[in-house]
Amino acid sequence: MKPRLVVARPVPEAVAARARAEFDALINDDPTLPPETILEQLRRHRAEALFFTSSLPLRGAFLEALPREVKIAASCSVGFDHIDVAACKARGLIVTNTPDVLTDCTADMAMLLILAACRRAHEYDAIMRAGWRRRFGLGDMLGIRVSGKRLGILGMGRIGRAVARRARGFGMRILYHDIARLPPDLEEGAEYFADLKAMLPHCDILTLHAPGGEATRKIINAETLALLPKGAVLVNAARGSLVDEEALLAALRSGHLFAAGLDVFQNEPDFDTRFAELPNVFLTPHMGSATVETRNAMGFRALDNIAAVLAGRPPIDPLWT
Ligand code: DGY
Repeated sequence: MKPRLVVARPVPEAVAARARAEFDALINDDPTLPPETILEQLRRHRAEALFFTSSLPLRGAFLEALPREVKIAASCSVGFDHIDVAACKARGLIVTNTPDVLTDCTADMAMLLILAACRRAHEYDAIMRAGWRRRFGLGDMLGIRVSGKRLGILGMGRIGRAVARRARGFGMRILYHDIARLPPDLEEGAEYFADLKAMLPHCDILTLHAPGGEATRKIINAETLALLPKGAVLVNAARGSLVDEEALLAALRSGHLFAAGLDVFQNEPDFDTRFAELPNVFLTPHMGSATVETRNAMGFRALDNIAAVLAGRPPIDPLWT
């Protein structure tokens, strides 16, 4: 008998195929199924494992009603701000995430946002789609050169460091803030600021790679945005909760910020569409890890965690030990 699994959200075909081969798997193909329906499926299927994503928060009433037969909940994400860790621990549920496998693609997305915001990608694309048909003077529609600029990185974990490596290739100078300074081999010449507010005035571009949650909620707000030099660029491929969106809209409208590149928002998918009205914002719908290779790797990693736990082995990526 194969172990019983509910896959709460649609997954790439390769991941679904492996889930079917190794488990008695109920795999959903609707990304919007409400938590009550998932609970009902877990009960009916007598599931021992749940495969889920950040669109299904593991907390509150959903967590309380989770059938006791479920031994492991494997989140197909690196972030875990959608999980009430203390409550899961208290309940004795094993919870895992999928670190490492999405580092490169998320860092690539941050670079895409940096380049697109600095080089006015959204405006150029809109001009072309409108038929172009007008001449520009040499001083029209100019962007910002990234080489030689100072890139501030808030959060120098795996993804922040991968962004730093890429940005060095573009000739950028790296500054960073995190709760602790990295050892020299990981710092690779980046300049550490123990105080975020002390770093901000030196950032031509600021890119966010800190985790979501209470400690970082709205860490980028009217006060911290005002500390950036006039004409700076903000990029967020981490979590929408890091940014006070009213303050960001004001800074973009006033011209204090030259532009922003945003992959994440406070409310997803119902993001604040006032961002879409601004020409100096490049927008993507939370797609940092969205490549065939990475989504397959994330799905496989979540399945590896489930297989380990249901076979009586320790999880590979436990959220706590
Ligand atoms: C992650 O893996 O945390 C991505 O942001 C998707 O939620």
